[in-house]
Amino acid sequence: MPFELVRNDITRMRVDAIVNAANCSLLGGGGVDGAIHRAAGPGLLKECRTLGGCPTGEARITGGYDLPSRYVIHTPGPVWQGGGHGEKELLTSCYLSSLRLAAAHRCESVAFPLISAGVYGYPRDQALRVAADTILGFLSDHDMLVYLVIYDRTAYAISQNLYASIRAFIDDAEIPADYEKTEFYRRAGNVSLPLAAPKERKTLFPKLGKKAHPQSVEEPDSWTEFSASAPSLNEYLREQDEGFRDMLLRKIDETGITDAVCYKRANVDRKLFNKIKNQPDYRAGKSTVLAFAVALRLSLPEIQEMLGKAGFSLSHSSKADLIVEYFVLQGNYNVFEINEALFSFDQKLLGSA
Ligand code: APR
Repeated sequence: MPFELVRNDITRMRVDAIVNAANCSLLGGGGVDGAIHRAAGPGLLKECRTLGGCPTGEARITGGYDLPSRYVIHTPGPVWQGGGHGEKELLTSCYLSSLRLAAAHRCESVAFPLISAGVYGYPRDQALRVAADTILGFLSDHDMLVYLVIYDRTAYAISQNLYASIRAFIDDAEIPADYEKTEFYRRAGNVSLPLAAPKERKTLFPKLGKKAHPQSVEEPDSWTEFSASAPSLNEYLREQDEGFRDMLLRKIDETGITDAVCYKRANVDRKLFNKIKNQPDYRAGKSTVLAFAVALRLSLPEIQEMLGKAGFSLSHSSKADLIVEYFVLQGNYNVFEINEALFSFDQKLLGSA
């Protein structure tokens, strides 16, 4: 996953560079700034003293010293003053300046805190939106692994009404009997989760089966009669259905998007996509299959079909599956927004290994 939400202490992240939500003096402070200086040791402050400060929205790079990361990128975020003083542009510039500096130092992995969302008072869900949009925009044409490190649950919040709406959907859906009668379900246009109708498979046992469907095959009179007319295993295996990989590549062609657009939308890295594409026997995990199904903007029945081809299914007993279904029913196929919600409910993220 090129862009991942993780719950951790940024000073423990084993990445090429961690980003410090600093102040313009670059001489340390509280919050994540204080944590990074404490963990890095005195060498960090000594180097920061040589930098002569940094304007809001720009970034400076130093060594990592006693931290597991090679570098620390320091960027002062804007202080929130109500939103009418260019805060969003300055915060966007913090992420972009830091990413460009990391790329210039050939960093392959970078970890950010939620800049300005603490002492500087930037509303958390808006700070998260700016972070996600800027990072995802940068990753649309850069190969890098970027973590957004959430230190504690209070530091992270999708908008409360979104959280409440998903909560209600899950609660409804956990009572399957009433599920189809809930208000949400009606609003969602009663898109149900039927399994893709089993295709009529032509039987390989014409002499035995009366109907086209192999399950209607009548018991053979004797094994010798059966084996005499049964196809060879090779013939039978030739009936193998289209697999997940084939359906994925077919759907990419049908939608007219490029491979890169598809795996970027799915938040799956290029290497994993190429492995799926070039190794027909590679078995992708459910969260990867689901990430591609969402990235292709499939309907729920098609999502169920694609999962089925990889040996999985959507289930109403899974909170994560219900959250994905919630977004698909709303017509929201933004993998990162779905991941924000999954993260909020402590569920596995789409595209994660
Ligand atoms: N790891 C990851 N994230 C952390 C950690 C940590 N160890 N400690 C705090 N955070 C989170 C906070 O929960 C918040 O979501 O970092 C985010 C940014 O909060 P602050 O550190 O307060 O940074 P900011 O809001 O940008 O204010 C910067 O505070 O610490 C001073 O010197 C700093 O003056 C500057 C100001």
